[in-house]
Amino acid sequence: MKYITIAIDGPGAAGKSTVAREVANRLNYTYIDTGAMYRCLALYAIENHLDYMDDDILADAVDNLNINLTNNGKVYLNDKDVTRAIRGSKVTNIVSRVSSPRKVREKFVRLQQELAKNQNGVVMDGRDIGTVVLPDAELKIFQVASPAVRAKRRYEENLSKGIDTPLDVLEEEIRQRDYLDANKPFGALKKASDAIELDTSYLSIEEVVQIILKYAKDMIE
Ligand code: DC
Repeated sequence: MKYITIAIDGPGAAGKSTVAREVANRLNYTYIDTGAMYRCLALYAIENHLDYMDDDILADAVDNLNINLTNNGKVYLNDKDVTRAIRGSKVTNIVSRVSSPRKVREKFVRLQQELAKNQNGVVMDGRDIGTVVLPDAELKIFQVASPAVRAKRRYEENLSKGIDTPLDVLEEEIRQRDYLDANKPFGALKKASDAIELDTSYLSIEEVVQIILKYAKDMIE
């Protein structure tokens, strides 16, 4: 059996993390949610009252983060369970800014590359995985969906976690974040030339998972 690296990129709330985690679990691979890592930095900046408009302050703060991602979706920041806290609106509203500085991205990219090493199979999701973090990934998926569909998905995902943000607020957040993520000077959302684009607007999670598993199994078996 051959182990491969799977990169899943795409805009926010396209259902990437749910799909990526499920694909990883079914293949018995390690799942790495890079968005959660940037969200940890945003939460750290809020909790420690850091000036998140200051690139150097943010880049220095990365060294104080000990992030632990578990395969069942829990996120620990400096030994504290922040799974819920990193999904709230306060974090969501500043995370695009926090994940913009070049020095912040360089540190996180290195960390992500280290995490992906020496694993028996990896699924990593984010914005720049197929282009910057793991350019040699064997399978690259670029997962998209319309803003309205993504807002609905995030709404349902939030509800299951006990977070009740109105649908129209989520859709506006998503549109704003799309704009910011696409216009970042470094690490902007971009489809790798060898990525497979998957429009999931009218597909269920299970259907998306099955499509990706089929591509993966064709390579592994
Ligand atoms: O996927 P998400 O919504 O949890 O991502 C949170 C933010 O982090 C989003 O604004 C984009 C940014 N991000 C990034 O710049 N690079 C990544 N590899 C992953 C996420």
